[in-house]
Amino acid sequence: MSLNNENNQNVDLLDDNVPTDFERIASLKRRSFIGAGALCGAALFLGGNLLSSNVLANEVSQAARGKGRNGSTGSLLGFRNVAASTADKVVVPPGYDVDVLIRWGDPLFNGVPEFKHDGTNTAEDQERQFGDNTDGMSFFPFYNKFGRIDPDRALMAINNEYTNYKYLFPDGRTPQSADDVRKALAAEGVTVIEVRRRKGRWVFKRDSRYNRRVHGNVPMAIQGPAAGHAWLRSNEHPTGKTARGTFQNCANGMTPWGTYLTCEENFNGCFGSTDPNITLTTAQKRYGLSASSSNNWFPYNERFDLSKDPNEANHFGWVVEIDPFDPTSTPVKRTALGRFKHENAAVTSTRDGRIVVYMGDDERGEFIYKFVSSQRYNPHNPKANRDILDDGTLYVAKFDDGDGDVNNPKGSGQWIELTHGKNGLTAANGFNNQAEILIHARLAGTQVGATRMDRPEWIAVSPINGQVFCTLTNNSKRGSDDMPVNGPNPRANNIYGQILRWEEKDPSATAFEWDLFLMAGNPAVHPEDPYDGSENINADNMFNSPDGLGFDESGRLWIETDGEDSNEGDYAGMGNNQMLCADPNTGEVRRFLVGPTGCEVTGLAFAPDYRTMFVGIQHPTGQFPDYLPNGRPRSTVLAITRRDGGVIGA
Ligand code: FEO
Ligand code: CA
Ligand code: CA
Repeated sequence: MSLNNENNQNVDLLDDNVPTDFERIASLKRRSFIGAGALCGAALFLGGNLLSSNVLANEVSQAARGKGRNGSTGSLLGFRNVAASTADKVVVPPGYDVDVLIRWGDPLFNGVPEFKHDGTNTAEDQERQFGDNTDGMSFFPFYNKFGRIDPDRALMAINNEYTNYKYLFPDGRTPQSADDVRKALAAEGVTVIEVRRRKGRWVFKRDSRYNRRVHGNVPMAIQGPAAGHAWLRSNEHPTGKTARGTFQNCANGMTPWGTYLTCEENFNGCFGSTDPNITLTTAQKRYGLSASSSNNWFPYNERFDLSKDPNEANHFGWVVEIDPFDPTSTPVKRTALGRFKHENAAVTSTRDGRIVVYMGDDERGEFIYKFVSSQRYNPHNPKANRDILDDGTLYVAKFDDGDGDVNNPKGSGQWIELTHGKNGLTAANGFNNQAEILIHARLAGTQVGATRMDRPEWIAVSPINGQVFCTLTNNSKRGSDDMPVNGPNPRANNIYGQILRWEEKDPSATAFEWDLFLMAGNPAVHPEDPYDGSENINADNMFNSPDGLGFDESGRLWIETDGEDSNEGDYAGMGNNQMLCADPNTGEVRRFLVGPTGCEVTGLAFAPDYRTMFVGIQHPTGQFPDYLPNGRPRSTVLAITRRDGGVIGA
């Protein structure tokens, strides 16, 4: 089917912003909300309803036989599998509709120029338009005084990961002036929008007082154990407690107190050096910083010049907390969660109410982390939760080599504490205090022997049983002398990726059991070798490079891909990047959506009734979504509904 946006012109037809009862009490009631249907993406808040640890192995063996627990063959998947596609359009199952919610460049406010397909929008325009390259997103309902969700009104916070210069500027070059850098910074970060439901469909509300851009030039606070440390004192921020902007915002999380977590990923490419002979430290190299820069900001803005402002880069690679309900609030970089190339932040809780955040570091050979707060979440006192992410314990994952089963390896692992004075994190080994451990979390992980992974992308926690899933997207270096295969990363030259699963008795536990929920592969091209994928992968549902990941409230696992879309060779038959849905009970996987030419499918949120799903189409390269003869492609957030009004996927 072709994109159907006849019901959504992205033009605000709604009433003025008249404060409602819902709005007036929202700031209190939203904070007393725990984990009902509105948590989305990979951010699910649980009460600690975990299965005993031996259930995992049992479920795995059941899944391998295509059966659920208790031998049930009932499926959570109620839609027809979609065929692979190479068309420049969005494909969904019969009975589903696809609407545009918002596109790159759509004005957030009245009076802001519309998107111009020739690249001539100014930096000032971009600062008040929806950012580029949509990624992780969360849906924030309003609540009335009885704690009921407003069915027709909500906010969304949506990441804008990076920008494509080919489409951002008229000539398609990397930035060539300070104003170009300003426009690039404006295209990244986060966009907060109000959405309204009209005739059963969610639409973007232009000119809402909640609409906001949190881009690369917006003032930020730095909090937590590393705030104020000498390594965070930059030219513009001598206290080390403030910063400017957020960029390279990959995926996300959502807290039970109604704030948004945005994750800074590939920040290193934003920095360079006008001194090409600059001597980089071990830590700078480990974080991928170099004299050259893929973004070319440093010649025109000194904060990105490592030779002139070396600590500015230490302001990036954090999880940033944003209150979408207060457009005047200052976003906070939460240093207790560690500095690395953050993919997403999957939020859950321990049985006794402490907040847990699972996080992946997306780079070949980097690690998986877990933060456990010191304080318990307090649903009755919003102020008590405001800075809960500033104090806690950061852990890194260490996996054993497992049982060596090539098709379905499983084993156990440990969370190793990254606390100064423990596990060799001492001054003698180069870590003088907790701030240094957090700013150089990667080095600390190496010091304690963390397991090098196949590029950890999103993590998601099952709302049914608390099992944790993580996409390991691919790893071309796996199998090298530097990075041998290991238990959860069992394939050399891992071109397809896998989804790791682990289970803890409680999210505060330091031990876990793991297995691979699936190994992506191509059973048509590789029928007889480990690259055929696991048993739940076949010629009809095969894909590569799982990336975005999230559960709905029924426990369906939604999988988005960011991989090779050539549809040739090892990837023949897979088509464009796509979204799949898995039944964790049975292991069954069906393809739900295929994206248009050149895109990555990333970003996932649901309306609280699970009858609208929001999905992001990032960096399309054809004519999507406007299909103008000489137009530019635009990253787009889609709203997907069922024609019969049913629950998505059921
Ligand atoms: Fe932004 Fe690792 O994806
Ligand atoms: Ca990703
Ligand atoms: Ca990816």
